[in-house]
Amino acid sequence: MSKRSGEFNLGVAGVLLLASVVAQAQVTPCVKDDLGAVPPKYNVDFPTDIQPILDVACAGCHTGGGTSGGLNMNVGAAFGNLVNVPANNSAANMPRITPFDAAASFLFQKINCTNLNEIPGTPFGRRMPRSGPPYLSAANQALILDWIEQGARAARDPDRIFGNGHEGRN
Ligand code: HEC
Repeated sequence: MSKRSGEFNLGVAGVLLLASVVAQAQVTPCVKDDLGAVPPKYNVDFPTDIQPILDVACAGCHTGGGTSGGLNMNVGAAFGNLVNVPANNSAANMPRITPFDAAASFLFQKINCTNLNEIPGTPFGRRMPRSGPPYLSAANQALILDWIEQGARAARDPDRIFGNGHEGRN
């Protein structure tokens, strides 16, 4: 291979690299923790399934009176501050929780995306819990995912008597 063609190849590689850097600057894809191995939980109950996770893993910053990121998740306050409430972080451009749509729920992205801290300038803030690692276990992330995908209800739905245990996960 001549030196010249070598240079040409390098040039093409450089252009491709530049293009991918530009593309990344526009949309940084979320690298997700894989939750596929966790069995779905049917009819998730916010007070008994979700709030205890927040009480432990988000303590001091968002519970116990904490309001980091403008977000308080104390018992009694969490649901009203999360569901259909726009995120404080304007770069997020989405609600903290969007019922039936974890991909459009900033809280879920904050706990599930492994690469938030590596995005230059950290426009979406850091991965939560901010004190991590450790971050939330796959089991706890999956509970939050199932809760959202089932409609992010305030409590278990007593009228839902049928379920195959395999709904809501995507
Ligand atoms: C050590 C303190 C700390 C802990 C623990 C913590 N956070 Fe945060 N959280 C912050 C800070 C500071 C911000 C704002 C900066 C950022 O996003 O990185 C924030 C921002 C957020 C936001 C964005 C709020 C908005 O509207 O923009 C969400 C959602 C969030 N945290 C969820 C959680 C969850 C869920 C947990 C527990 C699993 C948790 N955090 C644990 C400190 C913490």
